[in-house]
Amino acid sequence: MLGQNTNKLYKFPQNWIKQHVGHIDINVRQKWNILWPTLSKIENKNIQVLDAGCGIGEWTLELSKRKSQWNITGIDLNQACIATAQKNRSRLNATSCQFQSADFLAYKPQRRFDLILSISSLHYLWERNKQHELFTKITEWLVDGGTLIALIPRTASEAPDLEEASVLPKHSIASQEEIMNICQVHHLKVKTLEACINKKAMKAKNMYATKKGMNRIIGLPKMLALSNPRNLIVNNDKEPTYAWLLIAQK
Ligand SMILES: C[S@@+](CC[C@H](N)C(=O)[O-])C[C@H]1O[C@@H](n2cnc3c(N)ncnc32)[C@H](O)[C@@H]1O
Repeated sequence: MLGQNTNKLYKFPQNWIKQHVGHIDINVRQKWNILWPTLSKIENKNIQVLDAGCGIGEWTLELSKRKSQWNITGIDLNQACIATAQKNRSRLNATSCQFQSADFLAYKPQRRFDLILSISSLHYLWERNKQHELFTKITEWLVDGGTLIALIPRTASEAPDLEEASVLPKHSIASQEEIMNICQVHHLKVKTLEACINKKAMKAKNMYATKKGMNRIIGLPKMLALSNPRNLIVNNDKEPTYAWLLIAQK
């Protein structure tokens, strides 16, 4: 679970919970359960990896500890996030990763990447109708045969609105057809396109986002109740799902 290696960055009781129970945001837990089975199978050898839209670098840092041979670069538009990521990198002595503040559309890496991971970050440009510029970049960044693994929000028609989601910005981005189409236009072969992230996760995400300080601790039992293993993996269309897992190869 995310937090196994990065729990040291937090104070008690968060560090203890992250180490023993895992991340308390069920949304993040679902993301981990969706992505880790694929990521864990990729060999721990010297490959170039990009975490596009890395935020404060939690995934970059966790992966750099688990896959010590990967050379991981985390980029993000938000300079404050990158400053925190860099501080956390020093605290964890995570020497096989680095962070850089950059806008996707302006980013010019010195080397191409074998793997690009983008967790809930591509939709911001998609919302501004810049998805083709973004995918042009992604294909430029990838080596031939390289892989893109991304989580992208589903359209509102595919993912029914949640009342609880009203406190957070809603993203209604990509239908199955749009993703297939953009991959085809940019010569990416779709290997997996799976619906994931269920209603429980959306509820938990909102709960986590709105609870601050003591309220977050008081809300903890509720959040842990949501972490019932039955709620952790959803990758079919039997119940509403809110994101796409895309795995595509150049
Ligand atoms: C929802 S956060 C996800 C962070 C991280 N991937 C995670 O899962 O913890 C989305 C991130 O994408 C970044 N982002 C949005 N648009 C971007 C752009 N044009 N270029 C680079 N980063 C961008 C935001 O600054 C934000 O940190």
